[in-house]
Amino acid sequence: MTQKLANTEQMKKFLNIVSGKTTDKGNPRVKQIAHRLLTDLFNAIEDLDIRPDEFWTAVDYFNDLGQSMEAGLLTPGLGLEHFLDLRMDAEDAAAGIQQGTPRTIEGPLYVANAPLSKGSARLDDGTDKGEVLFMRGVVRDSDGKPVAGAIVDVWHANTKGMYSFFDKTQSKYNLRRRIETDANGRYEFRTIVPTGYGCPPDGPTQRLLNALGRHGQRPAHIHFFVSAPGRRHLTTQINIAGDKYLYDDFAFATREGLIPKIVRQNDPNKIREKGLNAPFAEIEFDFTMTSLSKAVPDDVVQRRRVEAA
Ligand code: BEZ
Ligand code: FE
Repeated sequence: MTQKLANTEQMKKFLNIVSGKTTDKGNPRVKQIAHRLLTDLFNAIEDLDIRPDEFWTAVDYFNDLGQSMEAGLLTPGLGLEHFLDLRMDAEDAAAGIQQGTPRTIEGPLYVANAPLSKGSARLDDGTDKGEVLFMRGVVRDSDGKPVAGAIVDVWHANTKGMYSFFDKTQSKYNLRRRIETDANGRYEFRTIVPTGYGCPPDGPTQRLLNALGRHGQRPAHIHFFVSAPGRRHLTTQINIAGDKYLYDDFAFATREGLIPKIVRQNDPNKIREKGLNAPFAEIEFDFTMTSLSKAVPDDVVQRRRVEAA
């Protein structure tokens, strides 16, 4: 049997040179990762007989992906962001850390420094005539004690599945707020029930998903960062129960424990009490934070995030 080209001594030396292993300059961790990924890629090209035109299609694809700023969209679509969550879950389990509210992906649509209020907030600017939603709950520590002064940073899509800042038709910070829990660890907000996000139909992420025979839809959901001194940063989402894509999320973010009951209120007295003239929805959801631990890193993930100008 002929030896694979990627396994020859000549190619091994070449991969060492390419990934900077023959020089003291540079970053050792980057070299280690580059060497592994390039070795795997060389092998894949050979094993799968990837033709030059296929290879250059992929290069063109990466250029398109960067130009359309969709790298952070493809990452969850290929299950990579969920895989990073599963690895952190496994690290926690190995360190004997009991699970609080399950973590799930951040996604690419967070905007930093949303307006901060104490105890309660209204998230929507009133222009989207969606179903009104009241969501409330308590932030607790792993002993069940309320955490006062925790920051609940919440963001979600409008009824078209679009996020403010990325959708320039919406007002600044629409459907985005930070809420500080009160002395009893409570938070509450008024908003509108969101619709699930769909990938831009003509973008490179959807193009690859089409080639994989997959859709690019997410179920309706609401994102949260929950943070407090001495506690691990929690990145999570809740899903709107009953959504068609609840268990078919292209970004793989749905997790048991993150699908609270949504209660529809039709009682005319309750509608009047809220100052509304149509039925509304309510969700109760408590967050459980875990304490900082020396055994695992905190969960604040460093990545490039946008700020609204
Ligand atoms: C989202 O949070 O809506 C989202 C997450 C991953 C990919 C695309 C969108
Ligand atoms: Fe989202």
